[in-house]
Amino acid sequence: MGGYIPDELVEEIRARSDIVEVISDRVLLKKSGVNYKGLCPFHSEKTPSFTVSPAKQIFHCFGCNEGGNVYQFVMKIENLSFPDSVLLLARRYGINIAEQKVKGVNSSQKNTLYEVNAMAAEFFLRQLSELPQGKTAREYLRKRGINEDIIESFKIGYASTSWDGIHQFLKKKGISADIQNSAGLVKERENGGGYVDRFRERVIFTISDSEGRIVGFGGRVLNDTDSRPKYLNSPETLVYKKGNILYGLHITKDSIRKSKEAFLVEGYFDLITAYQHGVKNIIATSGTALTEDHARLLRRYTETVTLVFDGDEAGRNASNRGGMVLLNGGVKVKVIPLPQGNDPDSFIREKSGEGFLNIARESKTFMEYIINKEAAGSDLKSIDGRVKCINAVIPFLSLMNNSVEKSMYISSLAEKTGVSEKAIMDEMNKNKVKDKAKDKAKVKEALTSTFNKAERILVQLMLLDNKNIDKIKKNISVDNFKDDDMAKISSVLFTLSDSNDNISISHIMDMLSEERLKKLVSEMVFEDIEYQEVDKNISDCIRYIKKNRIDVNELVNQLKTAVSEGNHKRFKDLQGQILKIKQNAVIHDA
Ligand code: CTP
Ligand code: MN
Repeated sequence: MGGYIPDELVEEIRARSDIVEVISDRVLLKKSGVNYKGLCPFHSEKTPSFTVSPAKQIFHCFGCNEGGNVYQFVMKIENLSFPDSVLLLARRYGINIAEQKVKGVNSSQKNTLYEVNAMAAEFFLRQLSELPQGKTAREYLRKRGINEDIIESFKIGYASTSWDGIHQFLKKKGISADIQNSAGLVKERENGGGYVDRFRERVIFTISDSEGRIVGFGGRVLNDTDSRPKYLNSPETLVYKKGNILYGLHITKDSIRKSKEAFLVEGYFDLITAYQHGVKNIIATSGTALTEDHARLLRRYTETVTLVFDGDEAGRNASNRGGMVLLNGGVKVKVIPLPQGNDPDSFIREKSGEGFLNIARESKTFMEYIINKEAAGSDLKSIDGRVKCINAVIPFLSLMNNSVEKSMYISSLAEKTGVSEKAIMDEMNKNKVKDKAKDKAKVKEALTSTFNKAERILVQLMLLDNKNIDKIKKNISVDNFKDDDMAKISSVLFTLSDSNDNISISHIMDMLSEERLKKLVSEMVFEDIEYQEVDKNISDCIRYIKKNRIDVNELVNQLKTAVSEGNHKRFKDLQGQILKIKQNAVIHDA
């Protein structure tokens, strides 16, 4: 893995990187004691179990058990190879790596698609500004009130009437039809024999990921009388997964972070019109249903998302579903219900950005909105109507994490329906989600999956304090460790201690080749254990590993015999002895 890049360089880049800074780009972190905490970007959770240590430069999540140093974080969150993540951090921290040292890095299939998409975007842009035909598209954008700056910064272009404009352009650049096809820019002719452009005679919106890499396109017809679908988007490709792309995010993410809030709209024009009118903390779903991944992506930048969906039936439904997904993903959700028949684009063009911000100030929390909506839509004088209203609201309520807020909404629902709070709560508890309990169970499982606690304690003591390495190394060898993982970690620690006075955890991570081991190390480092009698623990553990294990093995054999002989008294006796050895063995922790 590290073979591509010299070890010293890997070390230098790691040393120059700040894990808190890198993770803060993607996760909202809050200081908690000496560490930082946030909602884990790798699994869905509502209470933070994702911990980052600035001192040790590592992270660990006690919910899903991900962990490692800055490289593991970047690899996992960006879905990159090790050399690619080294390269990314090098770039971020302005460290020059001669390209030949990382040969092979840029040749990945994904990078090819990013490059091809960038060429295509440039082509579409030039067609808009230079082609005589492009005039119709320029005219169309002008009519919709979009200015030159926006066209440029959002890379809006034009695909002409030609059947093979982009196809030929890319071919001349040496891009095979196959690659053009896997980028979704062309499609096979219906009756076989070659390829045609996917986008024809449309205004083109360039779609980028949160890092600004171009992943796909969306095209709109210029004429509402056109019989073809109004919008056409790139198909899913290796780099374009609709469930985790939000239109505009690469441009708006800084405003979102600063304003601590994001407006979520449906359409391309909704977004660019709002942006042009000064509403810059905004993203668009552009025709896809919100997913858990979207929620996770948004949570990197903000805690609060305000839904601004179209003022029609479809918009309200999308808003309900979207709100639910976001709530479930730990996002605080607000809603701006637009007047019937408006979408953000038409509303803002009529009432200006100021007018929009005015109604935004009156936005309701998503729960308030749901309760009002359901109450208004039910006949609260009848029993059936009350039951219907309560049943409609409960699924949303159960997703809420903050129990103070939740109880406020329960009161409000009780008051509106005239049903007691207790009855509502009883109904709700029937289908309660027990995700906290699940998380705890996972942690416990991870803790007990280690074969031998004594070995784990020794390794943990070495990780927590380098001085312990020598004490332990003198008395025990790697061969004494029966747990493979603990043996491997000890071996790295023993080796490092031969040549280093001060061993950083982050360095240890790079020396361990297996993912699993890195996670184990971060877990052990972050566990909230303070060993009181360190030396006694060490000697007990060593004694146990060297001697008692043999005794236990012997006793276990005898126990098996007792079972097969049906000697219950002997069985009980042996069981007691084993238990006693295990209890005495270790555990003098705090
Ligand atoms: N959309 C799509 N495919 C369609 C229709 C819509 O991908 N056939 C996506 C587009 O991203 C569009 C968004 O869904 O911007 C919202 O659709 P809609 O409200 O129908 O369109 P508007 O955004 O209002 O489009 P316009 O203002 O251009 O008419
Ligand atoms: Mn519209």
